[in-house]
Amino acid sequence: MNDLFLKALRCENRSRAPIWLMRQAGRYMPQYRAIRAKHPFLDMVHDPELAAEVTMLPVKHLGVDAAILFSDILVIPEALRVGLHFDDGIGPIIDRPLQTAADIDALPKPDIKEALQYVAQAIRLLRPQLKVPLIGFCGAPFTVASYMIEGKSSKDLRTTKQWMMKDPKSFHTLLEKISRLTIDYLEMQIEAGVQAVQIFDSWANVLSHGQFREFSLTYFKMILEGIKSKNVPAILFCRGSSVFASQLAEIQPSAISVDWNADLMQMRKVIPRNIALQGNLDPDVLYAPYDLIKRETKALLKGMKGEPGYIFNLGHGLLPDIPYENVQALVDIVRQQ
Ligand code: CP3
Repeated sequence: MNDLFLKALRCENRSRAPIWLMRQAGRYMPQYRAIRAKHPFLDMVHDPELAAEVTMLPVKHLGVDAAILFSDILVIPEALRVGLHFDDGIGPIIDRPLQTAADIDALPKPDIKEALQYVAQAIRLLRPQLKVPLIGFCGAPFTVASYMIEGKSSKDLRTTKQWMMKDPKSFHTLLEKISRLTIDYLEMQIEAGVQAVQIFDSWANVLSHGQFREFSLTYFKMILEGIKSKNVPAILFCRGSSVFASQLAEIQPSAISVDWNADLMQMRKVIPRNIALQGNLDPDVLYAPYDLIKRETKALLKGMKGEPGYIFNLGHGLLPDIPYENVQALVDIVRQQ
């Protein structure tokens, strides 16, 4: 059993830094594209056997030190029956985005452990096959709420931020609803066998310091408290985590996953040593020639050398058009430390 990743999460790793990559099971992989050519994305998410097969791909072919469950943060809105589908070339679309406070009150109250039991089934299939730890995940309430309001990916979240400013009360009601469902969802994943969880706040970068504390940190905290008794390490990722790191540290997650803007070595000096750091190579480096990938990767590894709480990752997810062989090269460089 390779437990470098879990050791690093406990800040007890005395060996090389472990590596896994956000969005490691995705379209940049030819093996993923071959399966995806036969099935719509959401069908793959809903089918435990396919989800398990896709989760295994980067472990088998790249040799990463952790698996992350193949799924999506938007399964919670799907369970809230807002009409989720994915359009090739556009991304996620929600047919009935929230428009008024009454829409929030009218949301159904699904039994998440029932509605999303296909996720638990995938986890149960995976655990016996895996020789590396399995990471479960969810979206942070702010990011999930933003999709439910915008109805699709948006660059600046205008509608969401305007709602947040005009009617913070109903916005909080929505965030709280999502948080409660998310706690149930993570509990289910943990009971089924995930060994760590990561919470993705991909859109937190649009928030100011004060807004982040009020509309994001509050719910991160609620979720961490909600799953605390399960004793599973939790990693917090935001775009903007380098800006919000000191706030994130206040609520004592096991690890903070850092965007690529920050100097990780400097962050290590300000984040308490009992909190692990994950990150933070700019994913765009993977478009560069091999020598540059090697130089940047080695520089990051050198800076974090000897750190018992360091996990190599990117500052955000892998993009579909990143050359597969560059990702393989990256994993090899980290493993050969
Ligand atoms: O990391 C992994 O490999 C695990 C699986 C995973 C997916 N989505 C699979 C996926 C994870 C952890 C996510 C999280 C997710 N989903 C986030 C947060 C992380 C981040 O990158 O910021 C967000 C914002 C979403 C919502 C979402 N799902 C978007 C915006 C898209 C479209 C993006 C695109 O590249 O087209 C998805 C679809 C999606 N989720 C794909 C995958 C592999 C691509 C679907 C396809 O095959 O067409």
